Amino acid sequence: WMLFEEDLEAILELKREKNAVILAHNYQTPEIFHGVADIMGDSLALAREAVEVDADVIVLAGVHFMAETAKLLNPEKTVLIPDTAAGCSLADSITPEDIALLREAHPGVPVITYVNTSAAVKAASDICCTSGNAVKIVESLGVPRVLMIPDEYLAKNVAKETDVELIAWHGHCEVHELFTPDDVRAMRDAWPGVTVLAHPECPPEVVAEADFSGSTAVMSDFVGERKPARVCLLTECSMSDNVALNHPEVEFVRPCNLCPHMKRISLRNIREALEFNRHEVTIDPAITEDARRSVERMLAVK
Ligand code: 13P
Ligand code: SF4
Repeated sequence: WMLFEEDLEAILELKREKNAVILAHNYQTPEIFHGVADIMGDSLALAREAVEVDADVIVLAGVHFMAETAKLLNPEKTVLIPDTAAGCSLADSITPEDIALLREAHPGVPVITYVNTSAAVKAASDICCTSGNAVKIVESLGVPRVLMIPDEYLAKNVAKETDVELIAWHGHCEVHELFTPDDVRAMRDAWPGVTVLAHPECPPEVVAEADFSGSTAVMSDFVGERKPARVCLLTECSMSDNVALNHPEVEFVRPCNLCPHMKRISLRNIREALEFNRHEVTIDPAITEDARRSVERMLAVK
């Protein structure tokens, strides 16, 4: 507890000293999310807020692709990620070479890339999307068919909400792919009346068994606005911990899966990032402009 307190105090002091802000994803542990973060949210909110940040240093408490997006939008600022090994199974599932092959196989079909990808993959794409704006981005292009990569399940879940034909890739989130429709049915038996919210990275059969689906921010808003008596968020474990702290009147049923990448970030390595200016995120200059264009096109869709 003493060490925890010490790190917390040191981080608050270092933020002032270095004119730094901490952006934290909804999957960060409560001591980070509620203890030291300045800006919290889903991938879309973190990208949007990154543009508005007035600071010299941004520490991204999240995974590597989020830090790259923050750097793309803030080329003149120092962007730090406390652990460079905080990756993502979706980002690892596709390369720019794969996109070149997809374009050859589907000439003229635009490529919409989920933000959970490397900057190099974003650079090879036409526009980005997140789980919070995917349907809107698909429909903004005004074409009958799009490539939607790399999350197969996100593409299949979005396909249920649009007439645009979506061609998917075979990437999966290693956290959300673990949920099954049987889990949902068993939970409904064990916890009568539970409202089940599923992240759209879950398999479509799981989303079909849920009451509602949306990005992490949309799930959080749902709990705040609808105040279900008993709720289960089919997503990463810290999400329920963070939302539950704001809504003590809601009962959280917590079958969840941990993201090992998100969990690499700790108070200790956030403190060290600020103390030693590490690990600075850089983007290959050869791809920076194209990658930024894909993110900015997404942010321009209202
Ligand atoms: P959102 O927070 O954008 O819903 O994404 C979830 C996720 O898995 C990010 O890695
Ligand atoms: Fe990637 Fe899934 Fe972890 Fe999100 S929860 S960072 S999509 S592996």
